[in-house]
Amino acid sequence: MTRERVAPAGRVNGEVNVPGDKSISHRALILGAIARGRTYIGNASPAADVLATATCLRACGVWVRDFPPARYALDGNGVGRLRAPDGVLDCANSGTTMRLLAGVLAGNDIEAMLDGDESLRRRPMTRVVDPLRAMGAEIEASPRGTAPLRVHGREVLEGLTWRSPVASAQVKSAILLAGLSAAGPTTVVEPIPTRDHTERMLRMCGVDVVSNGAEVTVHPGPLEPFGLRVPGDLGAAAFFLALAASRPGWRVRCPGVGLNPGRTGILEVLQAMGAGVHVEEGAPAGGVEPAGDVEVRGTRLRGVTISGSLTVRCIDELPIIAVLASQADGDTEIRDAGELRNKESDRIATLETGLRLLGVPCDSSAETLTIHGPVRLRPAQLDAAGDHRFAMAWAIAAALVPAGDGESIIDGAETAAVSYPGFFADLGKLLAS
Ligand code: S3P
Repeated sequence: MTRERVAPAGRVNGEVNVPGDKSISHRALILGAIARGRTYIGNASPAADVLATATCLRACGVWVRDFPPARYALDGNGVGRLRAPDGVLDCANSGTTMRLLAGVLAGNDIEAMLDGDESLRRRPMTRVVDPLRAMGAEIEASPRGTAPLRVHGREVLEGLTWRSPVASAQVKSAILLAGLSAAGPTTVVEPIPTRDHTERMLRMCGVDVVSNGAEVTVHPGPLEPFGLRVPGDLGAAAFFLALAASRPGWRVRCPGVGLNPGRTGILEVLQAMGAGVHVEEGAPAGGVEPAGDVEVRGTRLRGVTISGSLTVRCIDELPIIAVLASQADGDTEIRDAGELRNKESDRIATLETGLRLLGVPCDSSAETLTIHGPVRLRPAQLDAAGDHRFAMAWAIAAALVPAGDGESIIDGAETAAVSYPGFFADLGKLLAS
C-alpha cells in the first residue's frame, strides 16, 4: 500500500492537462473491437480500468496494439465474432469493463467467465444479468447476484424493451451492445437519463440509434471502424476545478475536456455554489462528443442541494463535491444518491468516515448525505478505502487544510491509478506552480 503526504496549498493558479476520458476510452476500445476493420484511438485514458478492457478484448481474439502512452490501433472482428477466451477475463476493479463486456459477449456463441477484484466482486450484477437473460443469453452469477459471471451468449438474441430500475449508463450500454446482435430493435427505458456516450459513439460507427429522453432504441447492424481522439476526462479535472473553486483568487484551467451533458453536473454544482465557471466549447470529438476548455475561479462558496437528474449527472464527482461542501457556508444536501453505495466502495460510508476525521460534521441516510459547512479542516490520516476517487478527493481535502496546520496522509494512494495514474504528479505540479 502506498502512502502519500499532502501539504496545505498556497495560492492555486495553473493549468492541468488531464488524461483522456475513461468512459469514452472503454467504449472506443469495445466498439473498435466489434467494428469491421482498422480503428485508431488517440489520447486514450491510461487508467488501469481501461487497460483491463484492452486485455480482455485481446483475450477474445481481437488484435489490439497499444502505442504508449495513449494511442491504440485495433482490427475489429465484427459483431458476434469474438473468440472464446482461454482463461478468465479479469476486469480488475472496473465495473464498466465487466458490465459492457457482459453485453457484448451475450451476442456471441461462446462461453466466457468475467471476474474482478474484491471490490468488483461485491458490486451488483443482477441489473445486467436479468436483461441479458431476457434477450436469450445464458448467464450465471454468484447466489448474491455478483461476479464471477459465466456468460454463454447466442449469435442472435431477442430484441426487447427493458425498463431499467436503476439509472445506470453501464446497464443501458450492456443492453444496447447486446442489441446489436438481436433479431430486431432493442429499447432501454431509464428512470433518469444517464451519460449517452454509447449512443453517440454507436452513431459515429453508422449504427441506427434513436434517443428520446429516457428512452433509447438500437437497431442491429454492423459497425464501421473509426478514428477518434478522446477528449480529456472531466471527472479527473473535477478534483483540480473543485480545489480552485474553494478560495477567492484561486484559478484552474483544464483544456480539451469532454462536455457530454450527462457528465457536466459538476460544472452546474460549482456554479450554484458561487464559483466562476467559464466554458469555451470547441469541436466535438469524433464529431459526436462535446468537448472544450473549462476554467474555474474560486470564491466564498455557499451550500447547495443536489438531487434527481443533477445527482446522476455528477455521480462520480460527488466525493469531491462533498469535500468542497465542507468549505461552503451552510448545508449541502446530496439526495437521491443511493447508487453511491454500489460504487468501488460504499461512497456514502467512506465519505462519512473521512470527513469526520477532517473535522467535518455530516450525516447520512440510505440515499442522502448532508455536509454542514463551513469547516476549518484539520490534517488527518485518511484511507482511500480501495477506491480511486477517494485517493484523489482526500488529497484535495489535505490541500484545503489551512497553511501551517500540517500535512495529511493518504493511505492506499496507489489506487488513484485505477482512473488517473498521474494524479499525484499533476497535483504536485499544480501546487508548486
Ligand atoms: C460509467 C457509468 C457510471 C459511472 C462509472 C462509469 C460508464 O456507473 O459511475 O464511473 O462509463 O458508463 P453506473 O452506470 O453504474 O451508474
